[in-house]
Amino acid sequence: MKKFKITTKIQIICYSELLSEEKCLIDMAKNSCSRAYAPYSQFQVGAAVLLANGEIITGNNQENAAFPSGLCAERTAMFYANSQYPEQAVKSIAIAAYTQGDFVERPVSPCGACRQVILETELRFRSPIRIYLYGKKEIYIIEGIKDLLPLAFETIES
Ligand code: THU
Repeated sequence: MKKFKITTKIQIICYSELLSEEKCLIDMAKNSCSRAYAPYSQFQVGAAVLLANGEIITGNNQENAAFPSGLCAERTAMFYANSQYPEQAVKSIAIAAYTQGDFVERPVSPCGACRQVILETELRFRSPIRIYLYGKKEIYIIEGIKDLLPLAFETIES
């Protein structure tokens, strides 16, 4: 029997160590939380997507009384970015979450469906997407979705 091990590389950093462009992307994800529509979970998530042309698109979670009809912040931002700028590769995405009057201490990580959509965008533009997960205590930086979604389902050759 053969075995193999999958490892995930995550860089842990604090806000003051970031470059100003990185701070800006994270700040935009944080600000976007305030525009979320999350009356059911009271858990507001914001995402900011940086495109190759320098444009930044934000999105947030949009809930619905029929729960599965809602959408996560990451997919709201990613789908809007791809729908408005189909020629622009996505370079990075920042994600923040706000609940019970404050931002979360430790980063929240994208759900499985959002990971799959981020993967599709990486494959579409043949370019890895850097992921910033914001927490008050620490920020995680992940170089590409494959670290969060190993052995992914893909039909596009990478
Ligand atoms: N949510 C996101 O926006 N992104 C994720 O990756 C996970 C969860 C939203 C969905 C729902 O509106 C709320 O957070 C609570 O689950």
